[in-house]
Amino acid sequence: MSTAQGAIPHHVAIVMDGNGRWATRRLLPRLAGHRQGVESLRRCVRACVERGVRVLTVFAFSSENWNRPADEVSGLMELLAKALTREVPQLAQDGVQLHFVGEQTGLSAKVRDGLRQAEAATAGNQRLVLNVCFNYGGRWDITQAAAALAARGEPITESSLNAALGLAHVPDPDLLIRTGGEMRLSNFLLWQAAYTELYFSDRLWPDFDESVLDQAFADYAARERRFGRTSAQLQSADPDGLRI
Ligand code: IPE
Ligand code: IPE
Ligand code: MG
Repeated sequence: MSTAQGAIPHHVAIVMDGNGRWATRRLLPRLAGHRQGVESLRRCVRACVERGVRVLTVFAFSSENWNRPADEVSGLMELLAKALTREVPQLAQDGVQLHFVGEQTGLSAKVRDGLRQAEAATAGNQRLVLNVCFNYGGRWDITQAAAALAARGEPITESSLNAALGLAHVPDPDLLIRTGGEMRLSNFLLWQAAYTELYFSDRLWPDFDESVLDQAFADYAARERRFGRTSAQLQSADPDGLRI
């Protein structure tokens, strides 16, 4: 009866939220929560690889996160640069192909170089595509895609716009998980999440572990993805014809 195309989603997207609260509860600076969040991401990548997920897209820094105090913003930039240096060799070894999605013009030359090198070092990997959305917003993405098409004088259609978006290299997410208890998208994947199954967890991102992932996958496996059709149609349909 389930139409979730198997228990394991092909593409999982995650809003990694709750780092600040995790730190504040421990009377630590917010940046300590972000640092712990990198550990959670490492655990999460490994768990996704083990379970056969093929694409993982995570929200690391939103267009609106520039509105945070300057020291938190610079701390997050520094953390990204350090995490790249530290994590990329292991990710490369684990077969992870890294992509950074987001506006790069606002980033320092050092961070931009780090992103480019990390992408180049992992480009040949096939086990898991890891998209890190950094300085990303769904509205920015749709706007830049439309502007790129207009500049080239190309017609704007669903498929041409889709092809100009930052995630054109992967299919739409099957499951979107948000930790930290908030039930909103906060400008993440506005276009791509049109038919994505949503799962919200109260767990703060630094406390994320395999049990949250397995619960989300169990929930997902029980969903009926109808893509506008009726339940009765799904019973008799060819499963390959069920995507939009
Ligand atoms: C998410 O955690 C990470 C980023 C937005 C960079 P938060 O920093 O938003 O944590 P809370 O929501 O304040 O607890
Ligand atoms: C969303 O979390 C962005 C990231 C996780 C990177 P926020 O904490 O910024 O979202 P809001 O402000 O609570 O909506
Ligand atoms: Mg938050």
